[in-house]
Amino acid sequence: MNRVLCRSLLNIRIRVPMARNASYLIEDPKYSFLKDLGLEKTNVGVFNGKWQANGQIIQSFSPANGKVIAEVQAGSSSDYEGCAKAAEDAWHAWAELPAPARGEVVRQIGDALREKLQPLGQLVSLEMGKILPEAIGEVVEYIHVCDLALGLSRTLPGTIFPSERPGHVLIEKWNPLGAIGIITAFNFPVAVFGWNSAIAMVCGDVSVWKPSETTPLISVAVTKIVESVLVKNNIPAAVASLCVGGKDVGEQLVKDPRMKLVSFTGSTAVGQQVGVEVQKRFGRHLLELGGNNAIIVNSDANLDLLLNAALFACAGTAGQRCTTTRRLLIHKKVYGEVVSKLKKAFAGVVSRIGDPLLNETLIGPLHTPAAVEAYKKTVEEAKKQGGTVEFGGKVMEREGYFVEPTIITGLPHDSPLVKTECFAPIVYCLEIPDLDTGIKYNNEVEQGLSSSLFTENLADIFKWIGPHGSDCGIVNVNIPTNGAEVGGAFGGEKATGGGRECGSDSWKNYMRRSTVTINYSGTIKLAQNIKFGDE
Ligand code: UN1
Repeated sequence: MNRVLCRSLLNIRIRVPMARNASYLIEDPKYSFLKDLGLEKTNVGVFNGKWQANGQIIQSFSPANGKVIAEVQAGSSSDYEGCAKAAEDAWHAWAELPAPARGEVVRQIGDALREKLQPLGQLVSLEMGKILPEAIGEVVEYIHVCDLALGLSRTLPGTIFPSERPGHVLIEKWNPLGAIGIITAFNFPVAVFGWNSAIAMVCGDVSVWKPSETTPLISVAVTKIVESVLVKNNIPAAVASLCVGGKDVGEQLVKDPRMKLVSFTGSTAVGQQVGVEVQKRFGRHLLELGGNNAIIVNSDANLDLLLNAALFACAGTAGQRCTTTRRLLIHKKVYGEVVSKLKKAFAGVVSRIGDPLLNETLIGPLHTPAAVEAYKKTVEEAKKQGGTVEFGGKVMEREGYFVEPTIITGLPHDSPLVKTECFAPIVYCLEIPDLDTGIKYNNEVEQGLSSSLFTENLADIFKWIGPHGSDCGIVNVNIPTNGAEVGGAFGGEKATGGGRECGSDSWKNYMRRSTVTINYSGTIKLAQNIKFGDE
């Protein structure tokens, strides 16, 4: 099976457009929160300081029932051009503002998000399909990044190094890049934009955002919130431009030399093309691509802790986080017990699969019919290759794009299927004789995003986080592979793309560094004691 098939299938849209005069969910009073976000039956999907679009009309579907929520007019090629130009023009004033003043604007964005937390969370749940607590958590993630960015705005460093020459100073000075492009995926339609936008804003950058084509309403609602804060502060609102669109708009952005950095979240296959295109023009890229995350269950693991974590890690978000656990590498001593208890835990949540907006729901739908197809194909292929479906494996007979969380055993650890990320709730259970083998299996996949070890053994923890441990960007102990906090740098190695965003020193992606040497000695002295000619 093609390694990238599962994720690329997600991009294929096979939904049949509904007649444009049919009734949309936005007209149903049940979804009145959409109006609280300023959304209408038809929305403009391009913002360059003004809302205007000339591209095709996109219908946005609810994955919970396949019905159209509302529609968005996407951007044409000239609309993208307008966004890039307006963002670039807005940059001058924005970059001149002191960083703490930019931080104050970002703080206000955090507050504006707090005010809209409930309706925005509901929209994420409706349009993306994740359950409401996770959808609200995603907005909270953006709010947390605003808080982090506010602090950063008063602490952005610049270093002075000792110069080897008398009467000289050596300074490291950081400046904004200018305009950046942010391309986000359907699965974190708010938080990943927030990670990039909030940090880039305090760094003094402006942005053009191209969201996923299947979550256009969320991008319009978020941009309206950011716009309201910028306008209140008399700042040109093109600082946060938006161009809803498809592959064409994405390609235009990636090739645009005005976009000094392209932050791309999506499949490894597309991310590789993005990386090459951006490199061709010596731009910068920040890539957050596929994962194939494993939890290692050591022989001494606390199994209650593990089972609790694994349920969220494998089945939560219907398996649609980059950080979802796809492989459980279980020590042979506890293998039987873990698989049988996990089956019980999965069985306990089946009755709680359903409408993601309802309180009792724990698992929502897959995002698109194409994702359901990818799930079906993967399960079929696993069976063909001799795997056993221990639990689940079926598409649910109901409206919307629901599938059963699935446990598969009996496949070799290095089979192409196990090494492929399918963006659905499928976990492969694999037996390991010892921790070293577990680490080897953890590291043998192409992707390197997240990983976790369940153990009570201190020496094993230090092995796991050391040079011969996990080769992933995220290395956890006794917690799931998913659900990272904003304080650390988020991202992964190898085919995950190598990018880091959000916390720690990820801000460096959004700034350029100048090494400045200033001579106040009144004479020219060369470094390395070089004497050039007569002195
Ligand atoms: C993603 O799946 O693209 O760690 C991002 C997590 C979230 C972010 C996931 N904080 O699961």
